[in-house]
Amino acid sequence: MKPKILVTREVFDETLAYLGAHCEVDSNQVDTPLDAETLAQRLADRAGVICSLTDRIDDKLLARCPQLKVVANIAVGYNNIDLAACSARGIMATNTPGVLDDSTADLAFTLMLAAARRLTEAEAYVRAGQWKGWHLKQLLGVDVHHATLGIIGMGRIGQVIAKRAAGFEMRVIYHNRKRVASEIEQRVNATYVSQDDLLAQADFVVLQMPYSPQTHHLIGAAELGKMKPNAILINSTRGGVVDDAALIRALKNGTIRAAGLDVFEGEPKLSPGFLELKNVVLAPHIGSSTEATRRAMAMTAAKNAVAALTGGTPANLLNPQAKDKT
Ligand code: GLV
Repeated sequence: MKPKILVTREVFDETLAYLGAHCEVDSNQVDTPLDAETLAQRLADRAGVICSLTDRIDDKLLARCPQLKVVANIAVGYNNIDLAACSARGIMATNTPGVLDDSTADLAFTLMLAAARRLTEAEAYVRAGQWKGWHLKQLLGVDVHHATLGIIGMGRIGQVIAKRAAGFEMRVIYHNRKRVASEIEQRVNATYVSQDDLLAQADFVVLQMPYSPQTHHLIGAAELGKMKPNAILINSTRGGVVDDAALIRALKNGTIRAAGLDVFEGEPKLSPGFLELKNVVLAPHIGSSTEATRRAMAMTAAKNAVAALTGGTPANLLNPQAKDKT
């Protein structure tokens, strides 16, 4: 008998075909997120779930899913999953690292360039029919090339962002919970500094650390106050690492110059004030959203789940202690 699996959100045809070859699949292809009760009901007899960062996988849900052996997230971040609860119940949890690094780094650079060159503001001006012709001081921006890039969070994605900066001849400084190996620093040409030094020196501050209780509001009013008045903040990691209300005040008051944001506290709702600001570039959590990358993420999650359900070890197992329990 094939193991039973639930796919909580829309995936690609090839993802379903692969899963169908190994599992009995129930899937929510209409793509309205399942509410907590429906999720619990549809997961009650399942051995696996392919979920996304919009699904909350907590202990209350797991308690209602006695057959569950694997939770395979279609995302690299997994703050939607209570990992400790999974481990305690012997449920494997997996994510999709690696396949999205380059696309997510591209989006961080897109936000940097767009915020620096006021692209969304300029486009709105053109679309509103306000452009009457070229003039010297029109929509003056700041340069990305030769600027100082400060990356907080030097994991895989932080490293590929640093590598891209070489093409713009930027100076790269970084801060990380733990300093990375010197071979990595040399390869990506980045210098380790304290967080305060980074905030004081960087023209662009890019956040790339995971969200956790420890990184909640890592950037708030005090940190924004340490940045240069001409600096630009980029958040392409997770809502919650920035205190959005404090950022809105800082953007209004000119504490910093601009921001480029792909993620928000309480998304998809936006904190009041963002929409009225011209000096913020807003994107709807599309960091990894290229056709190729999203297909690769979905297939990675599917392979992780199938490995777990067929006695193997998933390539991206987050909690090996859970497998030891099974
Ligand atoms: C997207 O935000 C991810 O974590 O993959």
